[in-house]
Amino acid sequence: MNITDTSDLWWKSAVVYCLDIETYMDDNNDGVGDFAGLARRIDYLADLGITCLWLMPFYPSPDRDDGYDISDFYGIDPRLGNHGDFVEVIRTAKDRGIRVIVDLVVNHTSDKHPWFVSAKRSRDSFYRDFYVWRDEPPANEQPTVFPGEEASVWEHDPRTDQYFQHVFYKHQPDLNIANPRVRDEIVKTVGFWLALGVSGFRIDAVPFLIEPPDGVDLGDPHDFLRDLKRFLQRRSSDAALLGEVNLPFAEQLDFFGGERGGELDLQFDFMSMQALYLSLARSDPSALRESLAARPAVPDGAAWANFVRNHDELTLDKLSDAEREEVFEAFAPEEYQRVYGRGITRRLPPMLDGDPRRIRMVYSLLFSLPGTPVLFYGEEIGMGENSDVPGRGAVRTPMQWTDGKNGGFSQTSPGRLVAPMPGDGYSPEHVNVLKQRNDPDSLLQFIRHLIRRYRVSPEIGWGELELFETSADGVLAHGVLSPLGRMIALHNFTAVPVRTRVEIGAVEEGTMLLDLHGPERMALDVSGRVELELAPYGFRWLRVSPPGDTRIG
Ligand code: NOJ
Repeated sequence: MNITDTSDLWWKSAVVYCLDIETYMDDNNDGVGDFAGLARRIDYLADLGITCLWLMPFYPSPDRDDGYDISDFYGIDPRLGNHGDFVEVIRTAKDRGIRVIVDLVVNHTSDKHPWFVSAKRSRDSFYRDFYVWRDEPPANEQPTVFPGEEASVWEHDPRTDQYFQHVFYKHQPDLNIANPRVRDEIVKTVGFWLALGVSGFRIDAVPFLIEPPDGVDLGDPHDFLRDLKRFLQRRSSDAALLGEVNLPFAEQLDFFGGERGGELDLQFDFMSMQALYLSLARSDPSALRESLAARPAVPDGAAWANFVRNHDELTLDKLSDAEREEVFEAFAPEEYQRVYGRGITRRLPPMLDGDPRRIRMVYSLLFSLPGTPVLFYGEEIGMGENSDVPGRGAVRTPMQWTDGKNGGFSQTSPGRLVAPMPGDGYSPEHVNVLKQRNDPDSLLQFIRHLIRRYRVSPEIGWGELELFETSADGVLAHGVLSPLGRMIALHNFTAVPVRTRVEIGAVEEGTMLLDLHGPERMALDVSGRVELELAPYGFRWLRVSPPGDTRIG
């Protein structure tokens, strides 16, 4: 592949921003965010510099799992607007150079979906086989995803005297992927939203989605993903599939379609995200370094989606019990800050005691790792959680725009808000967009700057990872290497200043290192050996500029 042409495969150098319509901006002041509100905030997002908006589920839903329980795959939750408002957001975003991807949640439906309502009515229903039914739960029952909230993944239906499968909540019956009609419905849904102008999908719970029901031989379950990707390509030349696949790396590779690709275009790197928190807890980057070293190279056209926080619990399920305990102790010492025995319900800044140096170091890392950075709304201003809201809801509070009423999110009375604002040091009075927009030293301006640097450094999205030895244990030194250029980055995980030696290997005589966050330019010895200083929790990005390179940094 000629990677100097980066015009296609936009996702390889995109900056993705995830938001939930209902908590972003309320236009009609009923306490619930809406599409019209988001349309008024597209300019903010364009100014921030993001290039792809990921909309969490906005479909009609009983809303018992924050919209991940859908009762109509083609609809819009009437609280949020209608199809006209949706198209208006897509159009406005496109006009500002922002693509929109949407959540595709087809592992299950809500139990209020007309298919399930019919399926439950009788064993003879046309829709009965849209779901997974058994006379008895299988002997090798898999564990529930929500321990403490669900006891089993099978629920007895007294009317028809059979059990249905639900990997998630019992009000989310699993669709039967082995039924060709179900597969057709999924593809039709994808076609529908593509026709409305979306540029791809974040697919929910992919490993569960493609797994055939117990005892059913579907051949290769990955055929479904391959078919879906082919369909996407036929309908839209540049639509992307971003998959939620929280599995060890070796298994994730299969979801890209192996070394030849052809399935998911992007996958979240859950492994390195978890290793990052372990490294932060230890003030030692070794765990992250090991994870990055183990991360498989992606097939042509695919990419890792890097993230620090998402809308769910901060899962630590891939760490050992002892490692998880270390992270819990450092960042979630109280029981109420933990959930499902595996995750944390806090946002990053409170976990790092609000230390701006440490917070910035983490985001510098996010934007310097090979792959595609994904932000969760509010991260750019350092929002905290509301610990009065139990479980995952703690991090799903409304966006904080101003220090005014309800943080400028809505003019309704606080009691009518879709979710309560944090009331502590992270309340809108202290943390809001307006304040930070007018402060050149704010986190918002810093993230904006990182986004700009990332966007003009396509080697980060396209490059191969390099890992370097350093003489300081607390420093992670990595690089990105591609025909588009080469950059090295250093991150100090400790609270003390360090001077460290880095060896990047022999370089051409006359090669320079150009600081990407400041004016400094240094000549690099042909041996590629360099000594650098880092402030406590400091970081540096340095472009390796060979003789004749015309880029100025
Ligand atoms: C993963 C989503 O991220 C989560 O929020 C949801 O509860 C489950 N899938 C079920 O849809």
